Amino acid sequence: MSLIDLRSDTVTKPTQEMLNAISNAKLGDDVYQDDPTANHLEEKAAELLGKEDAIIVSSGTQGNLISILAQTSRGDEIIIGDKSHIYNYEAGGAMVLGGTSLYPIPNNNYGSLEINDITNAKKNDDFHKPRTKMLALENTHNLAGGKVLNISEIEKISSKARDLSLSLHMDGARLFNASVYLGVEPKKIASYFDSVTFCLSKGLCCPIGSIIVGGKDFIHECRRWRKMLGSGMRQLGIIAAPGVVALDSMIERLNDDHENAKFLAEGLSNINGVIIDPEGIQTNIIRFSLSEKITKKSKNIIFELMGKNILLNPSKNDFRIVTHNDISKDDCKYFLLSLSEILKN
Ligand SMILES: Cc1ncc(COP(=O)(O)O)c(C=O)c1O
Repeated sequence: MSLIDLRSDTVTKPTQEMLNAISNAKLGDDVYQDDPTANHLEEKAAELLGKEDAIIVSSGTQGNLISILAQTSRGDEIIIGDKSHIYNYEAGGAMVLGGTSLYPIPNNNYGSLEINDITNAKKNDDFHKPRTKMLALENTHNLAGGKVLNISEIEKISSKARDLSLSLHMDGARLFNASVYLGVEPKKIASYFDSVTFCLSKGLCCPIGSIIVGGKDFIHECRRWRKMLGSGMRQLGIIAAPGVVALDSMIERLNDDHENAKFLAEGLSNINGVIIDPEGIQTNIIRFSLSEKITKKSKNIIFELMGKNILLNPSKNDFRIVTHNDISKDDCKYFLLSLSEILKN
């Protein structure tokens, strides 16, 4: 029986079509900007997101970092959600490498930010204080359980950011999950932001890579930072080829992951001892916990699931599971059955 890996959508393997595309990719040297496949993917991404230009980077973390480095200077400050990936899980890169401080304000349960908190976070022009330069949002929001910021919420926040003369970045690692959930074109979401990063390597199933989109001058600046960070990648078409397949054929299928996530959440809500709000599941991330009665028994759920060929991230009592292309409806059924058996015994 094959492993059911529910830890993340980052575990997805490239599809056969992607592997074929890799072996047939036309290659050049991207540092000379003459890798035709990389150039094609960048043009395609810019077009899809309605921006002037795009650049392929090695990861979502690098995309967020380069976007920040290219738009801020030492002593600047970025207003950011306290549960954002950039603030919590990117090793403080903006602070370490850019001398830019991250000013966290509370993320609400929907992964959004309150207008009052944004207004209060913006510093006046005062040499004692950092210069507030940017606001960053995350969509979908990982720690908020894959929640989607809808267009009216983005509109409200972006208009406040513009009033405060802030540039706007979106960590759109799972941007396409948001766009298929909302039923809006990705370029509509991107239109409110100066820079957007999205990942090829999560639900879109590519083995490596993310893309930054934005204006021509900004992307030119990103190219310099990417080189400085050691990611001038030569025959980049190897990474870009599956990216082309992903943008052509892997976006709409994210709906299947969302349906499986809903199915899992509803199934989990019927298992005694599981605490979950199935109504809150919007995309492919599900968070749940277990009742005190069960946690008191100190069951090693993760270990027992592993014995049944199911992988979850270790956690005391805040479990996150993620659906993706390598998880079928039958896998979901098997997981629910296995968990309910473990919790019953
Ligand atoms: C919301 C979000 N942003 C950024 C990243 C970073 O992506 P990468 O792992 O490619 O660096 C992740 C990774 O899970 C993420 O969930």
